[in-house]
Amino acid sequence: MTSRDRILNFFRQHPGQFVSGQDISDQLNISRAAVWKQVKSLREIGFHIESKHSAGYRLVDTPDLLLAADLKQNLDIRLIGRSILTFKEIDSTNTRARQLGHDGAEEGTVVIADRQLSGRGRMGRSWVSPAGVNLYCSILLRPQIPVQQAPQLTFLSAVSVAETLHEFCGLSAGVKWPNDVLVNGFKIAGLLNEMDAETELIRFVVLGMGINLNISAEQLPERQLYPATSVALLTGQPVDRLGFARALLQRLDGYYQEFLEQGFAPIRKRWEALCGILNQRVRVEQGTMTLEGTVVGLDSDGALRVQSEDGNIQRILTGDIRPL
Ligand code: BTN
Repeated sequence: MTSRDRILNFFRQHPGQFVSGQDISDQLNISRAAVWKQVKSLREIGFHIESKHSAGYRLVDTPDLLLAADLKQNLDIRLIGRSILTFKEIDSTNTRARQLGHDGAEEGTVVIADRQLSGRGRMGRSWVSPAGVNLYCSILLRPQIPVQQAPQLTFLSAVSVAETLHEFCGLSAGVKWPNDVLVNGFKIAGLLNEMDAETELIRFVVLGMGINLNISAEQLPERQLYPATSVALLTGQPVDRLGFARALLQRLDGYYQEFLEQGFAPIRKRWEALCGILNQRVRVEQGTMTLEGTVVGLDSDGALRVQSEDGNIQRILTGDIRPL
């Protein structure tokens, strides 16, 4: 943890109280000059810290920033979130997490940015990522599973995002194969999972999640496959991004632990429960090919099982699904 984060934690442990520079210095074993420098730096990023002669410093107000120290506080996690890196601005959290993966960073490392300059979406699309409103998060995992099973983790992240939207924001979010999270047909989150593997061996997987929390209608991208929305647009209330991010990390960690211990079955069950199209008739569009049938579930490699009129089960691995 950086000195700045440690000082911030110290303030948070003394809510509403003045703490002297000398006390901070003694307790954290940081020089007085460094304390002064870090208080200055906290003020620069938007913390309102009052100072009073002979009393010391007092934290008065906190900006809406996602900081590693706050994200980590009292998280009850085993793997995901052991190491959290936060950035005010970055090209793409997925790109950074991949670099970290190549550099040997530990499993469960989380990269979060306030703004992405080149946020990436699926199929080479970009992901609109303005500052101060949403959650842009990537998680580095090193599961020891066969390459073909890597898509299972996409369903793990989709379920975690949809359930956190329900638990934390009261929204009934559903999942849409393969990896969209929608509320009433409006896209609220996108997932971009990337893998680095050598033949049969997974080196790492990056789970990338972009969740529209407080983005306004004007900031939303032009309509793509689905119209987009955000939590604030749906509920009329801004969401506490920090609380949301913490709840999401907690859930992801729990489900990843369960996945490592019990395999894909529990996640598949949850995904099927959240998938609005189970037992429904759909049209699958794969380039110029289309197919109609009833969705009957998910295979262990992430393929969607669609039963056509003649009773045959088709395994769908790519394409767009539209309910009929
Ligand atoms: C989609 O096209 O639906 C997927 C969008 C994924 C966006 C997230 S934001 C955090 C992470 N970093 C990126 O560059 N992309 C993903």
